[in-house]
Amino acid sequence: MKFQSKTVLITGASSGIGKDFALRVAEDGAHIYLASRSIDKLESVKAEVEKVGGTAEVIACDVTKVDQIKSMFLHIAKSGRTLDLVLNNAGLGHIGKIYQLSTEQIQSVIDVNITGMIMVSKYATEVFTRQKHGHLIMVSSLAGLVTLPEWSIYVASKWAITGFADCIRPELEPHGVLVSTVHPGPVKTEFFDADKANIDISKMGEAIEVRDLSNAIHKLAFTKKQRLLIPALTRNFALMYRFFPGITKGMINNLAAKAEYHSDIKEDEPDFDFIQPVTS
Ligand SMILES: NC(=O)c1ccc[n+]([C@@H]2O[C@H](COP(=O)([O-])OP(=O)(O)OC[C@H]3O[C@@H](n4cnc5c(N)ncnc54)[C@H](OP(=O)(O)O)[C@@H]3O)[C@@H](O)[C@H]2O)c1
Repeated sequence: MKFQSKTVLITGASSGIGKDFALRVAEDGAHIYLASRSIDKLESVKAEVEKVGGTAEVIACDVTKVDQIKSMFLHIAKSGRTLDLVLNNAGLGHIGKIYQLSTEQIQSVIDVNITGMIMVSKYATEVFTRQKHGHLIMVSSLAGLVTLPEWSIYVASKWAITGFADCIRPELEPHGVLVSTVHPGPVKTEFFDADKANIDISKMGEAIEVRDLSNAIHKLAFTKKQRLLIPALTRNFALMYRFFPGITKGMINNLAAKAEYHSDIKEDEPDFDFIQPVTS
């Protein structure tokens, strides 16, 4: 019952990893702030949370809107509760060759996965440093430790978060605040749906059950462990990438090539006006 009487904020709590972690800590009796853009979905997560023993509040927060992030933390601060843990999790992926992705897709990954996560961290750590207590857990990815073709913008966003977390950890340690990054390989969630990442990764290998990840994050909570790598294959790839990058890139590239798109990639209208005609 590690989370009994603890208060937790989860961004991206309407589905997948965020939702399941909410249910996991609810089983311990936690109070959970459920944040995302989809109020209806959050209301049904709240009902599930209450069924398994937790309490919850729904907060509408688009992490690309700084004013909404600020209001969310003001609301929590005004509640008088001590905020024990923030799962900085909201994220998305658009997968495809860089010249095929639309500028909107590229921008949205940057806005949510980088700017959003950093702004949530900024306000979370303002609260934590005042309390002299708190654990900021950032959901990065295996893609935040290795590279793979067609995942460039997603990889860039997750490497950004890995580096960001490593920088702020020593800033926060003297204030009693913990920072960890989570690096899952593929997890069975809505992330890979046709209207989201639009990629079928089933041929790349077995994705883990979301509850296995929630249990691992539960174990990580309130410990000084800096990185959580799950499953074992992810740990092996991350380690091999560090010491044998050439061979490992080849292995990962072969795996990545097995992924298939659910539907055709919609390319931007070509805009070649900026290219000068070649004259011989
Ligand atoms: N699934 C995997 O294999 C995997 C592996 C490694 C890492 N991850 C990471 O895990 C995190 C969660 O992904 P998931 O697998 O649970 O995917 P998911 O089921 O698609 O959930 C994504 C969550 O992010 C929220 N979100 C997206 N844009 C948002 C925005 N602008 N503002 C606020 N919330 C937003 C969504 O909520 P709304 O749409 O309601 O706003 C949703 O709750 C992501 O950071 C992802 O990169 C996933």
